[in-house]
Amino acid sequence: MALVSSEKMMLDADRNGYSIGAFNVENMEMVMAVIKAAEEMHAPAILQTTPSTIKYAGLPMYYANVRAAAEAADVPIALHLDHGNSFELAMQALRVGYTSIMIDGSHEAFEDNIAVTRRVVDACRPSNIPVEAELGKVGGKEDDLDCNDPGYTDPQDAVRFVAETGISSLAVAIGTAHGIYKGEPKLDVERLSEIRKLVSIPLVLHGASGVPDEAVKDCIRRGISKVNFATELRIAYSNGVKDFLKANPDAFDPKKYGVVGMEYVTKLVKEKIKVCGCDNRA
Ligand code: 13P
Repeated sequence: MALVSSEKMMLDADRNGYSIGAFNVENMEMVMAVIKAAEEMHAPAILQTTPSTIKYAGLPMYYANVRAAAEAADVPIALHLDHGNSFELAMQALRVGYTSIMIDGSHEAFEDNIAVTRRVVDACRPSNIPVEAELGKVGGKEDDLDCNDPGYTDPQDAVRFVAETGISSLAVAIGTAHGIYKGEPKLDVERLSEIRKLVSIPLVLHGASGVPDEAVKDCIRRGISKVNFATELRIAYSNGVKDFLKANPDAFDPKKYGVVGMEYVTKLVKEKIKVCGCDNRA
């Protein structure tokens, strides 16, 4: 199938009480592994890349890779810019052919976040490309952005932010963090329910690696329709490679350990798709 926009899949998830899994990919093996999992689960999926991933191999490389894999697949796949950190990068992704864009102005002052987000929304509108933005600050380290000062999303601010920017989906900060948690994260799910009552567009949960499955499911019941997973996929791929090389220290063919890395990622993504409830929704 040709790449699709993330908008329709997220609206369907929103209306039907499940969530789309959004998976960060770093290389060709992870792209193939995630799409294999989506196909085996008959699930729509979003593949996404952050600015540091883009720095590694370039937007055209990820676009060509994901597009080729999506066209060979029989489930809908969207390609999303995750944590776009400038108007310029968002425009580059749009021009290359990404089918979903996030502009992350959450580290700016509220008014500046509104301004940059609205600019990206206006630029994406003619191509019908949906825009995700973040309000409040998800903690932890994602990419080169280290956030030691997380701030929860204020529900009233969210109403104004959505109205003034025209975004298609909103990433909320309710206590999740990017990366590995020390101990179990404490999520402010009442805040999520409050935002859901006031805001009608699909809501996004970042930082889902390490969040217990039941907690993710609770967030989905309370109105999350896209869940982002990155760190756990990186760990799974690396563990596959490490395990193979430990057992075969003389191996030198990247295909041999790449296959094992892919198997580990596919297994994990299938589990996450089940948690999101998007299996058999393709
Ligand atoms: P994790 O690395 O915690 O899974 O976060 C992923 C994410 O939110 C990407 O935007």
